[in-house]
Amino acid sequence: MLKKFVNICEVNLRDAKRNERFYNSLVQLVSILFAVVFGVALSELKEVRYWSYDFWVLVLAYVTVILSWWGYHWGIIVGPHETNALNYFIDCLLLVDYWFLMNIRSPLSSVLGWYLAMFFLYWVWEVVRSCKEERPPSSKRIIKQARRVNFTFFILILICFFTYSWSSVTKEQNYIIVLFILVTVYRYFITRVYLPKKQPFSLIPIQKKDLERVLIEEAKKAAANARVHLSGFRVGAAILSDTGKIYVGCNIEFDNYSNTIHAEESAISSFVAAGETKPVSIAIYTLSDMVSFPCGMCRQSLFELGGEDLKVIGCNDKTCEVRTMKELLPKGFHL
Ligand code: THU
Ligand code: ZN
Repeated sequence: MLKKFVNICEVNLRDAKRNERFYNSLVQLVSILFAVVFGVALSELKEVRYWSYDFWVLVLAYVTVILSWWGYHWGIIVGPHETNALNYFIDCLLLVDYWFLMNIRSPLSSVLGWYLAMFFLYWVWEVVRSCKEERPPSSKRIIKQARRVNFTFFILILICFFTYSWSSVTKEQNYIIVLFILVTVYRYFITRVYLPKKQPFSLIPIQKKDLERVLIEEAKKAAANARVHLSGFRVGAAILSDTGKIYVGCNIEFDNYSNTIHAEESAISSFVAAGETKPVSIAIYTLSDMVSFPCGMCRQSLFELGGEDLKVIGCNDKTCEVRTMKELLPKGFHL
């Protein structure tokens, strides 16, 4: 039911270029609105006495809002590029929330209330994302983690809210410090969820590890250059030749779809054009949940060039798996 509703709210102009332009302009619009809210609120600083309690609450609000906004929108790759109208609606509610955060300084229970709303909205934002039919760039694992972080912080602020409201002693300053620490810690966790993890390529055998690490790094770099406005699915490939040189490629999509070049094809082109004849191994890098190996068509090309001993290393941001061509394409075709 909820899933159905979320998917109805998915914005799709049925044209990849127009979609892209539309999403980008929405992201920019929200960013501009944010700047306006923040800028206007900054003028509030004039209204308060420097170094007073109000002054510190304001500074805390500014820092919080900037940190949490940045954690979501600039410190990461996937977050703001959303395709659902509900996400933009939540973004607008967040802007209203930020506005109150920067304008309400007392009583502290209201300030806590707006922080509570902020984390709640963050959580709802992720819930919407997880209800969507899976789209290429969004990974379920990341969304789940982000949802967990947001919910934990919602609960933490809720606890602050109640302990503050129930205690008769005024400990406002202490709560302000607690809030500041919580938000800073939040920023750290949410950015960690989104930034690709620098993890060891643990499944790779020890020998030749360094060379293979470089090969994987090259494939990863190539993936960043992929032209993927149609699928959003980045693939990078790096071939190691028996001369010790590395040749890279990425997938390149074209509007008529059928002209699309696979990452492996593009790496093979530069490999052959450079006069190389014998590939030793190939690394494929994708950002998907599961490690990807070359498609059937590319397996045939790689089999013809490298034979059944060619080593194929499939990697994502977490791990790598190694296969031989023999395993990937048993009884490959040759004339
Ligand atoms: N893709 C590759 O680059 N290599 C493969 O072996 C399979 C698919 C690309 C093509 C397209 O740009 C995107 O992945 C989604 O199919
Ligand atoms: Zn392919």
